[in-house]
Amino acid sequence: MRELKVDLGERSYPIYIGEGLLQEASSYFLKHGTSVRSPLMIVTDEYVAGHHLQALENSLKAGGFQVASAVVPSGESSKSLSMLEELVTKALEAGLDRKSTIVALGGGVVGDLAGFVAASYMRGIKFVQVPTTILAHDSSVGGKVAVNHPLAKNIIGAFYQPEFVLYDLNTLQTLPPRDVSAGLSEVVKHGLIWDSEFTDWCDANADKLLALEPDALGYALYKGSSVKAAVVSQDERENDLRAILNLGHTIGHALEAVAGYGEMLHGEAISIGMIGSAKLGLRYGAPEEVYTTTKQVLAKCGLPVKLPEHFDVDAIMKAMMHDKKFMENTMTFIVPTAIGKVEIKKDVPAAWVREIVEQLKLEA
Ligand SMILES: NC(=O)c1ccc[n+]([C@@H]2O[C@H](COP(=O)([O-])OP(=O)(O)OC[C@H]3O[C@@H](n4cnc5c(N)ncnc54)[C@H](O)[C@@H]3O)[C@@H](O)[C@H]2O)c1
Ligand SMILES: [Zn+2]
Repeated sequence: MRELKVDLGERSYPIYIGEGLLQEASSYFLKHGTSVRSPLMIVTDEYVAGHHLQALENSLKAGGFQVASAVVPSGESSKSLSMLEELVTKALEAGLDRKSTIVALGGGVVGDLAGFVAASYMRGIKFVQVPTTILAHDSSVGGKVAVNHPLAKNIIGAFYQPEFVLYDLNTLQTLPPRDVSAGLSEVVKHGLIWDSEFTDWCDANADKLLALEPDALGYALYKGSSVKAAVVSQDERENDLRAILNLGHTIGHALEAVAGYGEMLHGEAISIGMIGSAKLGLRYGAPEEVYTTTKQVLAKCGLPVKLPEHFDVDAIMKAMMHDKKFMENTMTFIVPTAIGKVEIKKDVPAAWVREIVEQLKLEA
């Protein structure tokens, strides 16, 4: 079992990473002072419920907790105001009070949704994350919780930190392969922005990660979460440093928008986006290795590194211009200067970006 602390003053919390933690869940809840007198509510999605809900419920009930569960449909569409209202109804029906805890069992969708329910129910009750995707090593650190509005993603939300995060590696064994690779995209990103040794390690161990070997996976999630934790502890509310976490995301978000949410997974889109950022790095004089290593490690993780031919470059540029980082004919980009190092460039010519997006279709 590995333990990592997210250092945020009085809002600090630990992340426990290990095998079989679901079965031992009640001891962690008791250790953190979760009340056995007030009911707690698990929020999960239908796929995760089928695999892992019973184990968590059993463990908590055996520990003397009163447990209610709410199962939402799988997918991004559950991050909605109507789902928030439904969950508040469920919480009221289950008798949740100010000392109750909401438990998010699932990936980033469930974490963001349940976290926002916890942040708003009775002006805020306790919240625990039990992540079941690789991507959630990212979304469960930093306290951003939100639901979507039809006009914009993640636009209704809060900064709200959990009591603790319980990451049971065994739950990841049931992940679909595409979600494994997509989650690894953010793991690789954390190496690329902060830690060249970890990038080398990912490159050497990609096959073990794809095979979900617990030792490798535990280490990768520990290192990835550590980088995110280090960044958010220095800048909890995204004033400056936290922006480096957006490596690959300006192009990536545009690809997601143009593809129509769902066709391209988030991690796949930012994989292509990170190749674009690496190419931009070369323009600013970064060594060739920034590009070759980025591409090699992403490809080894089963991620796309080439923009599919049918994507319309005009549409991608237009989507990026909607991004708040666009101003006149220059754009703000996170640009790698070496492996493990990035800079925030505020004056990247839009013409360069267009050329690079066009070149992304030609990647081998
Ligand atoms: N809060 C943040 O800082 C932050 C950061 C990054 C992403 N996000 C959000 O995270 C979301 C994406 O997260 P995600 O990729 O984890 O998506 P997700 O929660 O939708 O999970 C992906 C898919 O895998 C299924 N699944 C989850 N765990 C499983 C398991 N163990 N076995 C089998 N199937 C399983 C889910 O049902 C879903 O179909 C987005 O909404 C994004 O906005 C938030
Ligand atoms: Zn991301």
